[in-house]
Amino acid sequence: MNFENNLSFARQLDNNDPLKEFRNRFIIPEANGKQLIYFLGNSLGLQPKATDAYLQRILNDWALLGVESFFHATEPWMDYHDKFTKTLAVVTGALPHEVVVMNQLTVNLHLMLVSFYRPAGKRYKIICEAKAFPSDQYAFETHVKHHGYSMQDAIIEVHPRQGEYTLRTGDILDVIRQHADETALVLFGGINYYTGQLFNIGAITEAAHAAGAMPDLI
Ligand SMILES: Cc1ncc(COP(=O)(O)O)c(C=O)c1O
Repeated sequence: MNFENNLSFARQLDNNDPLKEFRNRFIIPEANGKQLIYFLGNSLGLQPKATDAYLQRILNDWALLGVESFFHATEPWMDYHDKFTKTLAVVTGALPHEVVVMNQLTVNLHLMLVSFYRPAGKRYKIICEAKAFPSDQYAFETHVKHHGYSMQDAIIEVHPRQGEYTLRTGDILDVIRQHADETALVLFGGINYYTGQLFNIGAITEAAHAAGAMPDLI
């Protein structure tokens, strides 16, 4: 396909998009009576129209049944975590018994840091993306300080090159190699919340393992 930088070509692409019907399933905010063009799918996406009814159903169950909702709600609450594993396994490329839905993101990040950040001797640094989500940065700080290190010393942020906005995979891998013997953990969100950059997690993971940044989990 030859791209053309004009409105009619963009409209033609929209028209041929097999997912175009899904647009109607979301509430699109408006300004001055016009729908906004919303690019923030990488962070907080649009509210699906169906969400309201789902939440209302849960509130109704809670109102009518109280704590019994765990067992007798329209969709009993007790085993929610099991219900999502099949679909989440497809999204993450994992097996259903390898994933679980629980908590909010920051709680999970703390739990993972407890398991995977095991600084020892010279190996105590965390390599991460510059401009990680703010609450992610506080989580890194908590664990680094908990182990007695300072942020300035223990956190290595990979920055875009001057005049660029996203990280080059080669630059990330170079930083990992440069700090191979002092890296305890390499921590990248799959997609940067700010730029929407999708990181090459496979290559980053391989480089981290080659650098020996593998906690000895027992
Ligand atoms: C990368 C990232 N980290 C952390 C958070 C915070 O999530 P929570 O409020 O579930 O802890 C978000 C929320 O959008 C996020 O995108």
